[in-house]
Amino acid sequence: MEKQYCVSPAVLVILLLATACSSSTGSRHFDFNVQWKNISRLCSRKEILTVNGEYPGPTIAVNEGENVEIRVTNGVSINTTIHWHGIKQLRTGWADGPAYVTQCPIRPGQSYTYKFTVSGQRGTLWWHAHIAWQRATIYGAIIIYPRMPYPFSTPIQAEIPIIFGEWWNLPVEGIETEMNKYGNGPNSSDAYTINGLPGPLYPCSIRDTFIQTVEHGKTYMLRIINAALNDELFFTIANHTLTVVEIDASYTKPFDTEAIMITPGQTSTVLFTANQDKHDSTGLFVMAARPYLTTVFPFDNTTTIGFLKYKGTLAENMALPEPYKVRLPYHLPQMEDHAFAISFSNQLRSLGTPKYPCSVPKRIDKRVVITISLNLQDCPVNQTCKGYNGKRFAASMNNQSFIRPLTSILDWHYRKYSSTHYSYDFPQKPPHVFDYTGVDPMTHNLNPNFGTKLFAVEYGTKLEIVLQDTSFLNLENHPIHIHGHNFFIVGTGFGNYDVEKDTGSYNLVDPPERNTVAVPMGGWAAVRINADNPGVWFMHCHLEEHTSWGLAAGFIVKNGAKPYQKLLPPPDDLPAC
Ligand SMILES: *[C@@H]1O[C@H](CO)[C@@H](O)[C@H](O)[C@H]1NC(C)=O
Ligand SMILES: *[C@@H]1O[C@H](CO)[C@@H](O)[C@H](O)[C@H]1NC(C)=O
Ligand SMILES: *[C@@H]1O[C@H](CO)[C@@H](O)[C@H](O)[C@H]1NC(C)=O
Ligand SMILES: *[C@@H]1O[C@H](CO)[C@@H](O)[C@H](O)[C@H]1NC(C)=O
Ligand SMILES: *[C@@H]1O[C@H](CO)[C@@H](O)[C@H](O)[C@H]1NC(C)=O
Ligand SMILES: *[C@@H]1O[C@H](CO)[C@@H](O)[C@H](O)[C@H]1NC(C)=O
Ligand SMILES: *[C@@H]1O[C@H](CO)[C@@H](O)[C@H](O)[C@H]1NC(C)=O
Repeated sequence: MEKQYCVSPAVLVILLLATACSSSTGSRHFDFNVQWKNISRLCSRKEILTVNGEYPGPTIAVNEGENVEIRVTNGVSINTTIHWHGIKQLRTGWADGPAYVTQCPIRPGQSYTYKFTVSGQRGTLWWHAHIAWQRATIYGAIIIYPRMPYPFSTPIQAEIPIIFGEWWNLPVEGIETEMNKYGNGPNSSDAYTINGLPGPLYPCSIRDTFIQTVEHGKTYMLRIINAALNDELFFTIANHTLTVVEIDASYTKPFDTEAIMITPGQTSTVLFTANQDKHDSTGLFVMAARPYLTTVFPFDNTTTIGFLKYKGTLAENMALPEPYKVRLPYHLPQMEDHAFAISFSNQLRSLGTPKYPCSVPKRIDKRVVITISLNLQDCPVNQTCKGYNGKRFAASMNNQSFIRPLTSILDWHYRKYSSTHYSYDFPQKPPHVFDYTGVDPMTHNLNPNFGTKLFAVEYGTKLEIVLQDTSFLNLENHPIHIHGHNFFIVGTGFGNYDVEKDTGSYNLVDPPERNTVAVPMGGWAAVRINADNPGVWFMHCHLEEHTSWGLAAGFIVKNGAKPYQKLLPPPDDLPAC
C-alpha cells in the first residue's frame, strides 16, 4: 500500500524540518552542509560549527521502515563525521559515524552520503558529530514516526523538541587539543541551553530564552534529548506532571513523574497536559534543567530555564520576569539528589505488549565484565602534565585506555587486513580482582594500559555486559553508550557485582531497552544484547571528557552464515584515510 506521510503544519513550525514530506517510495534524502556560523550568546559573538547554519541543527523526521540518505558535505577546513545516535544500522555499520572506528573522516571539501534503513524502532533519537568535541554545536533531533498508532490514546496537540546543550564562551575546538597535550581536565561550560537558548539566568540572555505557548486543556509531546557534553541533567516543568512514554526510541510502560534525569546520549518522549487553572495564575510556568552532580571535578553548576505560556492569560503580553524574581520549580531535584536519580531509573520498564514485545535474552552465551575507571598516568619524560598532582588524567575499561587508530577499524576488519593498529584481545573480565568500589583511590597504582583493543563475538551471540564503576579517582555515574544495538538493562546495584547473588534479582520480563545506560555511582549495571548486527561497534562513556581520556572499547560481531546476516559491502564514496 502506498502512503504519503506528511507532517502537520503545527509540527512543522516547531521542528523546522529539513524536508516536509516523503516520497511514496519510502525513501528520504537530506543535505547537510557543515559550515561555520557567527552567533551571539552570553554577551559575545563567536563562530561555531553548524549544519546548514542552524543551531541546533535540522531535524531528521522519518517514518519507521524508510530508507534514509543524508549527504554530508564538509565545508570547513577541519575533518568531520556524523553519528546517527541510537539508529541500529542493521548491516550498514559504514553509516554509523564514529571517526576511526567505522569510517575515516570526511575531509575538507569532501562529501559522504550516509545510507541506512530505520527499522524496528520508533520515537526520539538524535544525531551529532563524532570526532573531537564537534558535537558541542553539531547536533539535532531524529524523529521516527511509528508505523502503528501510538500505544497511548491521548490526542497530541503538538510536539515540542527539548534539546539540552552546553555552551562555552571560548572556542570549544581547542579543549580536546589542550587535554591531549597536557592531560588536564576540560574547562567547564559557561551555560546549559534548551534548544540552543540559555535563558534569562545567564548574562545578556533574556532574548535567548525558549518559550513555548500552550493551550489550556491540551496535551503536548516533549521530545527530550540530552546533547550536553559532560553533564547528566534533571529537568522539570513547574506545576505540571510529566508522563514518560518512550526512551531511546523504545516504548515504556507510561508512568507519571514530577521530574526526569537524563544523561548525555539519552532521549525520552514525555507527555504533559496544560491543566493549570488559567484564572488562578499568571499563566507563566518555568521549565528548568540543572546538572545531576556525581563528580569531584570542576563542572558547570548553573541552571537553564525556559517558559510555558498559556494562551489567553496575562502571560501572553507580559515581559519575562527579572532573573532575580524567577522561582525555580519546586520539584527540580537538587544537584546531589542521588535518591531521585536512582528511583527515576528504577521506574523505567519496557512496554512489553504483544505488539511491542520485550525481546530480552533470557539466557546468555557469554558474559563480559568491564570495570570503568578514571586514571592518572605518570607524566612522560620531558612533557608538561596538568592533571592532578603533575600527572595526566586518563580513563579506561578493564584497565585499557582506548586510543583511536589512524585507520577505520571497520574497513580493515571487512578487508581482513592484519593490523598492528588494533587487536582483538580486549580483556573480557577485569585483569585484577579487587574491591572495585572500596579501594582508597589515592594509594592505588592508577596507571592504565594504552592501546586499541576490541573483543569479537559470533553472530547471534546472546551477550551480557556488566559495567562496574570503580573508586579510582572518584566514584561517578557513567552514561555508557553502545553503538549498533539496543540493550536491555536487566539489573543495576551498588557496590561490587556478584554473579552468584545479583543474577537472581535480574528483571528478565520487562527491563528497559536503551542505547545508553547510566551506571550508578559506586555500583554496576548489567545489560543484555542480541548481537545480531555484524560490524565493529564502539562502546564508550558519553561524557565527552571521559571519551577523550580513553573510556572506550569496541566489539566486533562476526558475519553470520546466511546472506542477510552479513555486513553489506562499503559504499563507493566511503572516505579513505
Ligand atoms: C564571523 O564574523 C567575523 C568577524 O566579523 C568574520 O570575519 C567571519 O567571516 C564571520 N564568519 C562567518 C562564517 O560569517
Ligand atoms: C580554559 O580557561 C582558561 C581560563 O579562563 C583559559 O585561559 C584557557 O584558554 C581555556 N582553555 C580553552 C581550551 O578554552
Ligand atoms: C505552582 O504550585 C505552587 C505550589 O506547589 C504554587 O505555590 C504556585 O503558585 C503555582 N504556580 C503557578 C504559576 O500557578
Ligand atoms: C557553583 O560553583 C561556584 C564555583 O565553584 C560556586 O561559587 C557557586 O556557589 C556554585 N553555585 C551553586 C548554585 O552551587
Ligand atoms: C629530555 O630532554 C633532554 C634535554 O632536552 C634530552 O637530553 C633527553 O634526551 C630527553 N629525553 C627524552 C626521553 O626525550
Ligand atoms: C593497569 O595496568 C597498569 C600498567 O600495566 C598496571 O601498572 C596497573 O597495576 C593495572 N591496574 C589494574 C587495576 O589492573
Ligand atoms: C583528516 O583526516 C585524514 C585521514 O585520517 C588525516 O590524514 C588528516 O591529517 C586529517 N586532517 C586534519 C586537518 O586533521
